[in-house]
Amino acid sequence: MVKQYKQPAGINHGAEERSHQNCFSTFPLQSKSMKYPSVFLFVLAATLVLETGCNEPAKIVLNPYEYTAQKRVTGFRGAVVSAHPLASKVGLMILQQGGNAIDAAIATQLALAVVYPGAGNIGGGGFMVAHLRDTGALAIDFREKAAAAATRDMYLDEQGDPVPRLSRMGHLSAGVPGTVAGLFASLKYAKLPFAQLIQPAIDLAEKGFVLTAAEAGSLNHTQEAFNQYNTSPTAFVNRAGWKAGDTLVQMELSETLKRIRDKGKEGFYEGETARQIVAEMNKGNGIISLNDLKNYEAVERKPKEFDYKGFRIISMPLPSSGGIILEQCLKMIENRDIEKMGFLSPRSVQLMTEVERRAFADRAVYMGDEDFVKVPVKTLTGEAYLKERMADFIPGKAGSSASVGAGNIIPESEETTHLSVADQWGNMAAVTTTLNDSYGSKTVVSGAGFLLNNEMDDFSIKPGVPNMYGAVGNQANAIEPGKRMLSSMTPTLVLHNSEPYLVLGTPGGTTIPTSVFQTLVDMIDFGLSPADAVNAPKFHHQWLPDELYIEKDFPPGIADSLKAMGYTLTQRNSIGRTEVIKIGKTKSGKGYIFEAVADKRGDDSAEAY
Ligand code: GLY
Repeated sequence: MVKQYKQPAGINHGAEERSHQNCFSTFPLQSKSMKYPSVFLFVLAATLVLETGCNEPAKIVLNPYEYTAQKRVTGFRGAVVSAHPLASKVGLMILQQGGNAIDAAIATQLALAVVYPGAGNIGGGGFMVAHLRDTGALAIDFREKAAAAATRDMYLDEQGDPVPRLSRMGHLSAGVPGTVAGLFASLKYAKLPFAQLIQPAIDLAEKGFVLTAAEAGSLNHTQEAFNQYNTSPTAFVNRAGWKAGDTLVQMELSETLKRIRDKGKEGFYEGETARQIVAEMNKGNGIISLNDLKNYEAVERKPKEFDYKGFRIISMPLPSSGGIILEQCLKMIENRDIEKMGFLSPRSVQLMTEVERRAFADRAVYMGDEDFVKVPVKTLTGEAYLKERMADFIPGKAGSSASVGAGNIIPESEETTHLSVADQWGNMAAVTTTLNDSYGSKTVVSGAGFLLNNEMDDFSIKPGVPNMYGAVGNQANAIEPGKRMLSSMTPTLVLHNSEPYLVLGTPGGTTIPTSVFQTLVDMIDFGLSPADAVNAPKFHHQWLPDELYIEKDFPPGIADSLKAMGYTLTQRNSIGRTEVIKIGKTKSGKGYIFEAVADKRGDDSAEAY
């Protein structure tokens, strides 16, 4: 259903920096040469605010017809950063209503499922990594699973050749969704009733919200696919074409959300919604059954934790490769004085490129769902192993993926979304969720109004044989019934002196762990502010293809030096959309100061109070 609204005058998606009640309107940008400068500026800003009495937080107002994106904001009670201004506002509203970081993360995810349909979802899956003041670190795995009827060769033709379209588009590409189970698995750490957390999402679906230019463009780009992979009309199709300021109303989705509100997890995995999903499967070539849905469970896992230069890093374990890759990359550079090489210098970029190459070679060969395959995680992250991996590293000379080791790499889409939350009690939550491609399989569940993922493409659809990207997959990530496909999502938290310090993560497929790696190194080793680290040009190497991807604003001089070392450079429009919250202590040591930064690369928006 399409309602046309006039373009609200207040919509402004340009980068904005804000602090509450303009307390920090002159909060300076940090110098890149200072080590950990933001901590000092945090304390200075906190002192100023507390001494001027400018500390009464403004209550958040949710106006879905007029909103702006904020790129950087500071506060004392909590912060939320996500891919959409309305979702970030919903999260902050929940914090202001007395919710903790988990409450806000749940509400923000649900809001994203409405206002950011390209990746926010209830028909996909994801991961939450949290650190709670009272109980410590936890990780919740709500990754999609292969249906019971899935088979290793389900995407091969009669000749045994892969048919990638089948794993990427339409009904057969969908894994059993995990997001709703994940929301309910995290609810036990929340404070507020679920009905309160889901209501903003219901309202946004029912009353609608105005589209940003980016969202309108992305919906327009997908109209043909929506028509091709749906047999019933969907809210996302607009024959006249979408434009910024149009209102998107999702009545069917609001009814589904109400069933989840009223019946809990069963409101999705059983009853009417489950029947609608299976009916949709039957319209195409889908295989998800009522039993697959009823049997789906999110799993609480032991987070991937390690130390880096005095910082405690907490990230996602398998079935995400993200935490292991992050640990491997950081550990391979830890004793190499990277801080002396300089931020974005040929030497530091080359070192980081070479560790990324090695970590991704290991991902390809060894990693998959540990519930199904044995993965040598201890070895892969062990000191001796990582030292050996770098034995053939030559500063100033490009390495070669042919000599680093034979193996496989699984390409992934980049359409995923991340949100970061921190609260006044010292709790942090990092959540990355995905439909895989933008708008997933492009198939909307008829009558239920939500998009199904195409996460099956994250499996290796034919182990050992190059797929549509010219890359090959491996047995560890082959399709098996009930198995979770390997992911790269890297929701990450950092503690410093046992105190909350950073919450971060990003979308970006295989570029996720390398973007998180670079953002951490930029802040910890090069002393960049969160805003500078988030917005710095990114680069990416994933072993195969043996190419170094650079963002379009990567400095040309550094690119020339890397070419001279022997690297093949490929330019990409943008890499990642990183959302960071940096947390410091107030002068008294009793409270926190939050600096929330949203990536410049999208409509991403930060809120704090
Ligand atoms: N579909 C992206 C990922 O899970 O890494």
